Amino acid sequence: MRVAVITSSDSGYEGKREDLSGPVIEKMVTEAGYQVVSKVILPDDRKMLEAELARIADAGEADLILTTGGTGFSPRDVMPEATLAVCERAVPGIPEAMRAYSMQFTKRAMLTRSAAGIRKQTLIVNMPGSPKAVTECLEYILPELHHGWRFFWGRPGTVRGNNGAFRR
Ligand code: MTE
Repeated sequence: MRVAVITSSDSGYEGKREDLSGPVIEKMVTEAGYQVVSKVILPDDRKMLEAELARIADAGEADLILTTGGTGFSPRDVMPEATLAVCERAVPGIPEAMRAYSMQFTKRAMLTRSAAGIRKQTLIVNMPGSPKAVTECLEYILPELHHGWRFFWGRPGTVRGNNGAFRR
């Protein structure tokens, strides 16, 4: 599975704060045997986030986009809105599962507005911004994403072209 990583952080984008969560995602998905095809830090800007999410999905660059940050209550936290704006189909079960699993670590897990959805053949999953949250969420969902991937993208006899289209 090819994975793109997007960190939503004004301070990270401005170079004022080191992005610790993006590298955590990269390490975990690589150890799981997936390929990280891109990693970018963007500001908490809805239009820029939507543009990058749609660009990756429409180009068929990644099977999975994992985002971190921008899921809280701050006025600049807009990653869930950007995600659902570009997705054709919502996948509510993944963020619901992450929140439920995360409640054992912190009741503040209820404060993430993370979303997930599908655009063309790319699954987009939001995670909170802290490395701790990313680690806790990813360890829980990664194994199940593999099942979804095999079902959705890895159908026997199908080959995914660079434009993201399937051909038999
Ligand atoms: N989920 C897990 N697994 N672990 C955490 O520490 N932090 C919570 C929540 N979800 C947390 C978590 C907190 S404190 C907040 S404010 C929300 O994620 C939103 O985080 P974000 O603003 O970094 O997206």
